Amino acid sequence: MMDDIGDELQAEIMNEIRKRYSATVIGHWQQPRNWGIMGDADGYGKVTGPCGDTIEISVQVKDRTIQKCTFDTDGCGTTIACASIITEMVTGKTVIEARRINESGIIEFCGGLPDDDRHCALLAANTLQKALDDYDERRSEAWKKYYAR
Ligand code: FES
Repeated sequence: MMDDIGDELQAEIMNEIRKRYSATVIGHWQQPRNWGIMGDADGYGKVTGPCGDTIEISVQVKDRTIQKCTFDTDGCGTTIACASIITEMVTGKTVIEARRINESGIIEFCGGLPDDDRHCALLAANTLQKALDDYDERRSEAWKKYYAR
């Protein structure tokens, strides 16, 4: 009996979530890709948004192409989804191409986001830019790699 009520409640919550979010967002939220911080990253960024959530992004770059991108966050489901999505969007792209990824591109990849969740995409985009800034900085001053974070 208790289990039935629990299952019904869960199904109801899932229905509400499906009304607000695309299958892409729910998929990345439930099964985030590339979660973790790389110890040997070539670039690292950490940004806390006005809502208090933080995203960290690490990139591994070879021949100016992003080989690997990972993230960590203490944020909500949408933040997890946006950060997970951005790691997939940048992998295989050049640093210049990755620089062009912004809030709108992430929202488009998401298949749309409710207005009050759009800032999660902005936070992911800003964190990626910070990781790429760090990559550029380390390239110009190679010794900084050894004093990362
Ligand atoms: Fe803060 Fe998503 S709720 S970034």
